Amino acid sequence: MALNGIDQVTFGVADIAEAKRFLDDWGVTPVSANADRLHYQTRDGSDVIVRKADEPSLPAGLEPGNTLRELIWGAESQTELDKTLAALRTKAKVETGADSIPRVVDPNGLTIGFRVSKRKAFKAEATQVNAPGAPRRIDLRSPIHERAHPIGIGHIVVFANDIEALRAFYIDGLGFSLSDEYPGHGYFLRCQVEGEHHNLFMLNRPGKPGINHVAFTLADIHEVIGGGIAMSKQGWKTEIGPGRHPISSAYFWYFENPLCAPLEYYADEDHCTADWKPGKHERKPENFAEWAIAGGIDGKTRRQVVAQDNSGRGHAS
Ligand SMILES: [Fe+2]
Repeated sequence: MALNGIDQVTFGVADIAEAKRFLDDWGVTPVSANADRLHYQTRDGSDVIVRKADEPSLPAGLEPGNTLRELIWGAESQTELDKTLAALRTKAKVETGADSIPRVVDPNGLTIGFRVSKRKAFKAEATQVNAPGAPRRIDLRSPIHERAHPIGIGHIVVFANDIEALRAFYIDGLGFSLSDEYPGHGYFLRCQVEGEHHNLFMLNRPGKPGINHVAFTLADIHEVIGGGIAMSKQGWKTEIGPGRHPISSAYFWYFENPLCAPLEYYADEDHCTADWKPGKHERKPENFAEWAIAGGIDGKTRRQVVAQDNSGRGHAS
Protein backbone atom coordinates (compact mmCIF):
# COMPACT_ATOMS: atom_id res chain seq x y z
CA MET A 1 0.00 0.00 0.00
CA ALA A 2 1.22 3.46 -0.73
CA LEU A 3 -0.15 6.88 -0.19
CA ASN A 4 1.88 9.35 -2.19
CA GLY A 5 1.36 12.66 -0.40
CA ILE A 6 -1.01 15.31 0.86
CA ASP A 7 -3.73 16.09 -1.71
CA GLN A 8 -5.86 18.58 0.18
CA VAL A 9 -6.03 20.56 3.40
CA THR A 10 -9.17 22.24 4.72
CA PHE A 11 -9.03 25.06 7.22
CA GLY A 12 -11.84 26.47 9.34
CA VAL A 13 -11.36 30.18 10.04
CA ALA A 14 -13.10 33.14 11.68
CA ASP A 15 -12.34 35.63 8.93
CA ILE A 16 -12.60 34.45 5.31
CA ALA A 17 -11.57 37.82 3.87
CA GLU A 18 -8.39 37.92 5.97
CA ALA A 19 -7.58 34.32 4.98
CA LYS A 20 -8.00 35.34 1.33
CA ARG A 21 -5.65 38.28 1.78
CA PHE A 22 -3.02 35.95 3.24
CA LEU A 23 -3.35 33.23 0.57
CA ASP A 24 -3.17 35.80 -2.23
CA ASP A 25 0.15 36.95 -0.79
CA TRP A 26 1.30 33.36 -0.02
CA GLY A 27 1.46 32.67 -3.75
CA VAL A 28 -1.03 29.84 -4.21
CA THR A 29 -3.37 30.08 -7.21
CA PRO A 30 -7.01 31.08 -6.67
CA VAL A 31 -9.60 28.71 -8.13
CA SER A 32 -12.78 30.15 -6.59
CA ALA A 33 -13.72 32.49 -3.80
CA ASN A 34 -16.96 33.56 -2.19
CA ALA A 35 -18.05 34.83 1.19
CA ASP A 36 -17.88 31.46 2.91
CA ARG A 37 -15.51 29.29 0.88
CA LEU A 38 -12.08 29.74 -0.70
CA HIS A 39 -10.35 27.29 -3.01
CA TYR A 40 -6.69 27.67 -3.95
CA GLN A 41 -4.18 25.28 -5.51
CA THR A 42 -0.46 24.82 -5.34
CA ARG A 43 1.52 24.35 -8.55
CA ASP A 44 1.11 20.56 -8.41
CA GLY A 45 -2.67 20.87 -8.08
CA SER A 46 -2.98 20.23 -4.34
CA ASP A 47 -6.13 21.84 -2.98
CA VAL A 48 -6.26 24.40 -0.19
CA ILE A 49 -9.84 24.88 1.03
CA VAL A 50 -10.95 27.49 3.56
CA ARG A 51 -14.39 27.46 5.21
CA LYS A 52 -16.01 29.38 8.01
CA ALA A 53 -15.02 27.82 11.32
CA ASP A 54 -18.68 27.36 12.29
CA GLU A 55 -19.59 25.57 9.04
CA PRO A 56 -21.56 22.56 10.39
CA SER A 57 -20.29 20.08 7.78
CA LEU A 58 -16.65 20.58 8.82
CA PRO A 59 -15.11 17.92 11.04
CA ALA A 60 -14.01 19.03 14.49
CA GLY A 61 -10.55 20.52 14.79
CA LEU A 62 -7.90 19.43 17.27
CA GLU A 63 -8.13 22.80 18.97
CA PRO A 64 -10.40 25.85 19.10
CA GLY A 65 -9.92 28.83 16.81
CA ASN A 66 -8.51 28.98 13.29
CA THR A 67 -7.10 25.56 12.51
CA LEU A 68 -6.79 22.59 10.15
CA ARG A 69 -10.09 20.71 10.05
CA GLU A 70 -9.35 17.95 7.56
CA LEU A 71 -6.52 16.49 5.51
CA ILE A 72 -6.90 14.29 2.45
CA TRP A 73 -4.09 11.93 1.49
CA GLY A 74 -3.57 10.98 -2.14
CA ALA A 75 -2.94 7.49 -3.46
CA GLU A 76 -1.18 6.94 -6.75
CA SER A 77 -3.94 4.70 -8.20
CA GLN A 78 -7.31 3.17 -7.37
CA THR A 79 -5.52 -0.14 -6.79
CA GLU A 80 -3.20 1.47 -4.24
CA LEU A 81 -6.11 3.30 -2.63
CA ASP A 82 -8.08 0.06 -2.31
CA LYS A 83 -5.10 -1.73 -0.75
CA THR A 84 -4.56 1.12 1.69
CA LEU A 85 -8.20 1.13 2.75
CA ALA A 86 -8.38 -2.65 3.09
CA ALA A 87 -5.43 -2.61 5.47
CA LEU A 88 -6.75 0.40 7.36
CA ARG A 89 -10.17 -1.18 7.86
CA THR A 90 -8.55 -3.91 9.97
CA LYS A 91 -7.40 -1.18 12.39
CA ALA A 92 -9.97 1.60 12.26
CA LYS A 93 -13.51 2.55 11.30
CA VAL A 94 -13.58 4.01 7.79
CA GLU A 95 -16.70 5.84 6.67
CA THR A 96 -17.46 7.11 3.18
CA GLY A 97 -19.22 10.47 2.93
CA ALA A 98 -21.73 11.77 0.40
CA ASP A 99 -18.75 13.13 -1.55
CA SER A 100 -17.43 9.52 -1.95
CA ILE A 101 -14.35 10.31 0.14
CA PRO A 102 -13.56 7.56 2.68
CA ARG A 103 -12.58 9.11 6.00
CA VAL A 104 -11.29 8.05 9.37
CA VAL A 105 -10.58 9.95 12.55
CA ASP A 106 -6.98 9.30 13.59
CA PRO A 107 -6.15 8.56 17.25
CA ASN A 108 -5.31 12.23 17.77
CA GLY A 109 -8.78 13.34 16.64
CA LEU A 110 -7.86 14.65 13.18
CA THR A 111 -10.19 13.64 10.35
CA ILE A 112 -8.25 12.32 7.38
CA GLY A 113 -9.66 11.28 4.01
CA PHE A 114 -8.30 9.43 1.01
CA ARG A 115 -8.62 9.76 -2.76
CA VAL A 116 -6.81 8.81 -5.92
CA SER A 117 -4.40 11.71 -6.12
CA LYS A 118 -5.37 14.61 -8.34
CA ARG A 119 -1.91 16.12 -8.09
CA LYS A 120 0.17 16.56 -11.21
CA ALA A 121 3.79 15.51 -11.38
CA PHE A 122 5.80 18.70 -10.99
CA LYS A 123 9.50 18.92 -11.71
CA ALA A 124 10.95 22.02 -10.10
CA GLU A 125 14.00 23.64 -11.57
CA ALA A 126 16.08 24.16 -8.46
CA THR A 127 19.04 26.48 -8.79
CA GLN A 128 22.26 24.54 -9.18
CA VAL A 129 25.17 25.19 -6.82
CA ASN A 130 28.72 25.94 -7.87
CA ALA A 131 31.56 24.55 -5.82
CA PRO A 132 35.28 24.90 -6.53
CA GLY A 133 36.22 22.29 -9.08
CA ALA A 134 32.59 21.23 -9.50
CA PRO A 135 30.58 23.98 -11.20
CA ARG A 136 26.93 23.02 -11.72
CA ARG A 137 25.48 26.43 -12.73
CA ILE A 138 27.26 27.42 -15.92
CA ASP A 139 26.70 30.82 -17.55
CA LEU A 140 23.63 31.31 -15.40
CA ARG A 141 23.01 33.84 -12.65
CA SER A 142 21.43 32.66 -9.42
CA PRO A 143 17.85 34.02 -9.21
CA ILE A 144 16.22 36.55 -6.93
CA HIS A 145 12.54 35.75 -6.43
CA GLU A 146 10.03 38.58 -6.06
CA ARG A 147 7.61 36.16 -4.37
CA ALA A 148 7.04 32.44 -3.84
CA HIS A 149 4.79 30.05 -5.74
CA PRO A 150 4.28 26.98 -3.53
CA ILE A 151 4.62 23.70 -5.39
CA GLY A 152 2.83 21.39 -2.97
CA ILE A 153 1.75 20.73 0.60
CA GLY A 154 4.73 18.79 1.86
CA HIS A 155 3.88 17.96 5.46
CA ILE A 156 1.93 18.76 8.54
CA VAL A 157 3.17 18.67 12.10
CA VAL A 158 0.86 17.80 14.96
CA PHE A 159 1.04 17.79 18.73
CA ALA A 160 0.07 14.28 19.77
CA ASN A 161 -2.03 13.45 22.78
CA ASP A 162 -0.79 9.81 22.74
CA ILE A 163 2.24 9.78 20.51
CA GLU A 164 2.83 6.03 20.56
CA ALA A 165 -0.77 5.32 19.52
CA LEU A 166 -0.51 7.91 16.75
CA ARG A 167 2.80 6.53 15.51
CA ALA A 168 1.38 3.00 15.43
CA PHE A 169 -1.72 4.16 13.52
CA TYR A 170 0.31 5.71 10.71
CA ILE A 171 3.05 3.06 10.52
CA ASP A 172 1.00 -0.10 11.09
CA GLY A 173 -2.32 1.15 9.70
CA LEU A 174 -1.20 3.26 6.76
CA GLY A 175 2.26 1.94 5.95
CA PHE A 176 4.24 5.07 6.74
CA SER A 177 8.02 4.81 7.29
CA LEU A 178 10.03 6.27 10.13
CA SER A 179 12.67 8.74 8.88
CA ASP A 180 14.02 10.12 12.17
CA GLU A 181 12.95 10.32 15.78
CA TYR A 182 13.23 11.96 19.13
CA PRO A 183 12.66 8.64 20.95
CA GLY A 184 9.43 8.89 22.91
CA HIS A 185 9.07 12.56 22.01
CA GLY A 186 8.78 12.98 18.25
CA TYR A 187 8.52 10.92 15.06
CA PHE A 188 9.21 12.07 11.50
CA LEU A 189 7.22 9.86 9.12
CA ARG A 190 7.07 9.68 5.34
CA CYS A 191 4.14 8.12 3.52
CA GLN A 192 6.25 6.42 0.84
CA VAL A 193 9.38 4.31 1.26
CA GLU A 194 11.05 6.55 -1.30
CA GLY A 195 10.18 10.18 -1.00
CA GLU A 196 10.42 13.38 0.98
CA HIS A 197 11.91 13.08 4.48
CA HIS A 198 8.60 13.63 6.22
CA ASN A 199 4.97 14.18 5.33
CA LEU A 200 3.87 13.94 8.96
CA PHE A 201 5.82 14.86 12.06
CA MET A 202 4.33 14.33 15.49
CA LEU A 203 5.48 15.83 18.77
CA ASN A 204 4.16 14.59 22.07
CA ARG A 205 2.00 16.94 24.09
CA PRO A 206 -0.23 14.76 26.26
CA GLY A 207 -3.59 16.28 27.05
CA LYS A 208 -3.31 19.00 24.44
CA PRO A 209 -3.40 17.75 20.84
CA GLY A 210 -3.11 20.40 18.16
CA ILE A 211 -1.55 21.56 14.92
CA ASN A 212 2.06 22.73 15.09
CA HIS A 213 2.30 23.87 11.45
CA VAL A 214 1.44 23.11 7.83
CA ALA A 215 4.27 23.29 5.30
CA PHE A 216 4.35 24.34 1.66
CA THR A 217 7.14 23.15 -0.62
CA LEU A 218 9.24 25.60 -2.64
CA ALA A 219 11.88 24.98 -5.28
CA ASP A 220 15.01 26.04 -3.43
CA ILE A 221 16.48 28.28 -0.77
CA HIS A 222 16.30 31.33 -3.05
CA GLU A 223 12.51 30.97 -3.31
CA VAL A 224 12.29 30.57 0.48
CA ILE A 225 14.22 33.80 1.00
CA GLY A 226 12.48 35.76 -1.76
CA GLY A 227 9.06 34.49 -0.76
CA GLY A 228 9.65 35.20 2.90
CA ILE A 229 10.85 38.73 2.26
CA ALA A 230 7.79 39.33 0.06
CA MET A 231 5.47 38.14 2.84
CA SER A 232 7.25 40.38 5.32
CA LYS A 233 6.90 43.36 3.02
CA GLN A 234 3.14 42.68 2.94
CA GLY A 235 3.14 42.96 6.73
CA TRP A 236 2.80 39.26 7.64
CA LYS A 237 4.61 38.44 10.85
CA THR A 238 7.40 35.89 10.99
CA GLU A 239 7.02 33.18 13.60
CA ILE A 240 10.63 32.12 13.06
CA GLY A 241 12.88 32.10 10.03
CA PRO A 242 14.61 32.00 7.77
CA GLY A 243 16.62 29.13 9.18
CA ARG A 244 17.72 25.57 8.59
CA HIS A 245 16.68 22.28 10.18
CA PRO A 246 19.52 19.85 10.97
CA ILE A 247 16.95 17.01 10.82
CA SER A 248 15.66 16.85 7.22
CA SER A 249 18.26 19.45 6.13
CA ALA A 250 15.50 21.81 4.94
CA TYR A 251 15.60 25.58 4.85
CA PHE A 252 12.49 27.07 6.46
CA TRP A 253 10.53 30.23 7.18
CA TYR A 254 7.37 30.15 9.31
CA PHE A 255 4.65 32.80 9.24
CA GLU A 256 1.79 33.62 11.53
CA ASN A 257 -1.44 33.69 9.56
CA PRO A 258 -5.25 33.80 9.76
CA LEU A 259 -5.70 30.11 8.80
CA CYS A 260 -4.11 28.04 11.57
CA ALA A 261 -0.88 27.58 13.48
CA PRO A 262 2.14 28.81 11.50
CA LEU A 263 2.40 28.06 7.81
CA GLU A 264 5.86 27.20 6.56
CA TYR A 265 7.76 27.82 3.37
CA TYR A 266 10.50 25.21 3.02
CA ALA A 267 12.90 23.76 0.47
CA ASP A 268 15.73 21.29 -0.03
CA GLU A 269 14.76 18.54 2.41
CA ASP A 270 16.38 15.11 2.41
CA HIS A 271 15.09 12.57 -0.09
CA CYS A 272 14.88 9.10 1.45
CA THR A 273 14.82 5.59 0.01
CA ALA A 274 14.73 2.14 1.62
CA ASP A 275 18.45 2.67 2.37
CA TRP A 276 17.84 5.76 4.55
CA LYS A 277 19.04 5.18 8.11
CA PRO A 278 16.68 6.70 10.69
CA GLY A 279 18.50 8.60 13.39
CA LYS A 280 17.71 8.95 17.07
CA HIS A 281 18.06 12.54 18.19
CA GLU A 282 17.75 14.50 21.39
CA ARG A 283 14.80 16.90 21.51
CA LYS A 284 16.51 20.26 21.92
CA PRO A 285 16.52 23.63 20.15
CA GLU A 286 19.79 22.92 18.32
CA ASN A 287 18.11 19.97 16.61
CA PHE A 288 15.16 22.11 15.54
CA ALA A 289 17.36 24.75 13.94
CA GLU A 290 21.05 24.81 13.11
CA TRP A 291 20.45 28.54 12.72
CA ALA A 292 17.40 30.75 12.49
CA ILE A 293 16.49 34.42 12.54
CA ALA A 294 13.87 34.93 15.23
CA GLY A 295 12.30 38.05 13.78
CA GLY A 296 12.63 37.29 10.09
CA ILE A 297 14.04 39.61 7.43
CA ASP A 298 11.69 42.48 6.89
CA GLY A 299 12.92 43.78 3.55
CA LYS A 300 14.09 47.00 5.16
CA THR A 301 17.51 46.03 6.46
CA ARG A 302 20.53 48.22 5.88
CA ARG A 303 21.65 46.27 2.86
CA GLN A 304 18.21 46.38 1.29
CA VAL A 305 17.58 50.11 1.79
CA VAL A 306 20.47 52.03 0.31
CA ALA A 307 19.56 55.22 2.12
CA GLN A 308 20.21 53.54 5.46
CA ASP A 309 23.72 52.36 4.64
CA ASN A 310 25.92 54.35 6.99
CA SER A 311 28.47 51.60 7.38
CA GLY A 312 31.13 53.26 5.25
CA ARG A 313 31.95 49.87 3.78
CA GLY A 314 30.98 50.86 0.28
CA HIS A 315 27.75 48.91 -0.15
CA ALA A 316 25.87 52.06 -1.20
CA SER A 317 26.74 54.36 -4.04
FE1 LIG B 1 8.00 21.81 8.75
